[in-house]
Amino acid sequence: MDKKLKLAVIGSPIKHSKSPQIHKSFALQKGIEIDFLKEEVKPEELSNWLDNFFTSGGTGLSITLPLKELAINYADDVTERAKLASSANVLYKKDLKIIADNTDGHGLVIDLVKNKEFQIRDKKLLILGSGGATRGLLPSLLKEEPHSITIANRTERKAEKIVADLNSKENFTFNSNLITGGLSDTFLSSSEYDLILNATSASIDRNNSLKLPKKIFSGCSLALDLYYSEEKSAFLEDALSGGANTAVDGYGMLVEQGAESFRLWTNLIPDTSRLLI
Ligand code: ATR
Repeated sequence: MDKKLKLAVIGSPIKHSKSPQIHKSFALQKGIEIDFLKEEVKPEELSNWLDNFFTSGGTGLSITLPLKELAINYADDVTERAKLASSANVLYKKDLKIIADNTDGHGLVIDLVKNKEFQIRDKKLLILGSGGATRGLLPSLLKEEPHSITIANRTERKAEKIVADLNSKENFTFNSNLITGGLSDTFLSSSEYDLILNATSASIDRNNSLKLPKKIFSGCSLALDLYYSEEKSAFLEDALSGGANTAVDGYGMLVEQGAESFRLWTNLIPDTSRLLI
């Protein structure tokens, strides 16, 4: 690769993003030169910003909240996994076309299976939240054939809508049970979970507790908060005091989805283990 690649991460808010460090580290490892921008972009600015980025030589970028659903509309081609997720977390130029893809689900599965040695097959999963994050992850998790995925959300009908949307997708079949409900004690305690995933946006505010019944964590081998930060979120603290074996944040998933995005931009596969020590 002879020229310096122009890459970026955009979203709002974006200040907290660790993507620039991750991609600079991948580039260093692979001996390529990159310019990696981190820019605050609001939904109404997205289309113009992307026009400018790609006409001024941009190769690819990561898309974060709240732009993932919108980004899909910008692309000439949308990959199967982005279609299933109804959102894109990566855009890149290939043969003069803009491609939208979604590497979030892949990143989570690799992080679970490879880094955390958590086998998803036949396990009972609980996902909290029914926003874009849950939509993005669900198809990849289902492909691993867990026994069941329970989706619990404050607004119950949004959980039901996700499942209805997934069932309406052609060419996507799965064998796991999908169960939906609210965050109530009775619903959540009706089953034991091997993995509990917090895909709500509640952890953005450290003081936000989901007020989950503590007993759901007993017997749980892994609790994972998609949100990542230096300090443990209220969810992770609740998980540990409730008896979860391990409680971790979403940094590993961020690194793995980043590695997959980096591969799309450069055709190079970085070694993620160096960032996960
Ligand atoms: P994202 O794209 O990150 O998933 P989103 O679409 O705004 O963001 O969805 C946020 C999710 O977090 C929703 O499931 C939301 O619940 P509602 O559908 O009831 O709004 C959930 N959420 C956010 N703050 C929460 C809180 N304090 N308690 C419970 N759920 C919360």
